[in-house]
Amino acid sequence: MEEISKFLVPWIDDIQVYSTDDLVLVWADPEIGRMMLNENPLGPSERVTKAVHEAARLGNRYPDNGPRLRGKIGKFYGLGPENVYLGNGSSEMIDNVMRLFVAPGDEVIIPNPAFSLFKVRVTTAGGKPVLVDMKMTAEGGLQYDTEAMLKAITSRTKVFIICTPNNPSGNFIPEEDLIRFLETGIPVFIDEAYLEYHPEQPSNAPLIKQYPDNAMVSHTMSKAFGMAGIRFGYLLASEQMIGYLRKIQLPWSLGLLSLAAGEAAWDEKEEELRKKVEFNRREIGYIWEELSGIEGLHPFYSYGNYILVDPGDTGVKGKDVVDFVFQETKIMIKAYSLPGGRQGFRLSLGNQEQNRSCVGAIKKFFKTRSQTF
Ligand SMILES: Cc1ncc(COP(=O)(O)O)c(C=O)c1O
Repeated sequence: MEEISKFLVPWIDDIQVYSTDDLVLVWADPEIGRMMLNENPLGPSERVTKAVHEAARLGNRYPDNGPRLRGKIGKFYGLGPENVYLGNGSSEMIDNVMRLFVAPGDEVIIPNPAFSLFKVRVTTAGGKPVLVDMKMTAEGGLQYDTEAMLKAITSRTKVFIICTPNNPSGNFIPEEDLIRFLETGIPVFIDEAYLEYHPEQPSNAPLIKQYPDNAMVSHTMSKAFGMAGIRFGYLLASEQMIGYLRKIQLPWSLGLLSLAAGEAAWDEKEEELRKKVEFNRREIGYIWEELSGIEGLHPFYSYGNYILVDPGDTGVKGKDVVDFVFQETKIMIKAYSLPGGRQGFRLSLGNQEQNRSCVGAIKKFFKTRSQTF
């Protein structure tokens, strides 16, 4: 028998796996509070579930690639159906873009901290993720280090990843900085996964007309729409770029049920999103204010559905807070590495009661600590 390793892609050992261990735990025990995954605690509407149910009756048929919905989405952004690419969540957009541009040894510049799937999918294509630390701003936020990211360009750089608002730092990139990346001519993947939480903030989609060769804008219904398990994402780009991407994508990667859910959710987005967005704003505001009141703690204000917290000089490690919150409340939150070697934590929204329990446990953790020291 031949040694299997000789058949594997040579970069197999460099491929990082996106851990889904937390998901296995929470599905096995529905009592666990899920505040670690940036899910929406408010699920899909009746209209969406009905559309899925009806589509299931046609489950013997292959889906098309949603030309009617592509038309509706394109129109919303002042673009045409030929500028819209639908897929199985925005994770598929990330993966397809890496497959399109990255050959073994190529580099992708990614801010740090960022959604960890970015680097995972770069390594799957045999590429090298180049992580550039974000910097602290005078106002106490984390912001893209544009100079450092531009300095990181080499002859092997194939893509820049910009997430706005960024997960986990929660802030938008200033438009002038985004333009500087686009002006390099290098493909820029602009991830707007959380943008719908702030409908007053314009999308960067118009940049596609200005930078047709290298601008791509990605969206998902996993976040504000509350459809993470249904899987629906879309990417906006020039017709030529979408043409290249279609060479990469499997023809039926977006299933019939996801497509039906996506269209139903799109058609009712005005009213349904308003409810979800209001809940998010209120609860994020509550959490941010409460955590800001804890001495030494620095929560970063967030335009997404999560808040990243820097334990500052308290000497606390994010993991200790995560473990304490779980023991006290059975709610999972997530430890996060921060630039400068500090260990913070991130919590995403649960329902109203869970948000209060989680905040209560974090307060208790720091109170007990300050009494001990
Ligand atoms: C910035 C960002 N992009 C994309 C995704 C993936 O979303 P989807 O469920 O659409 O694959 C996430 C999920 O957490 C995210 O945080």
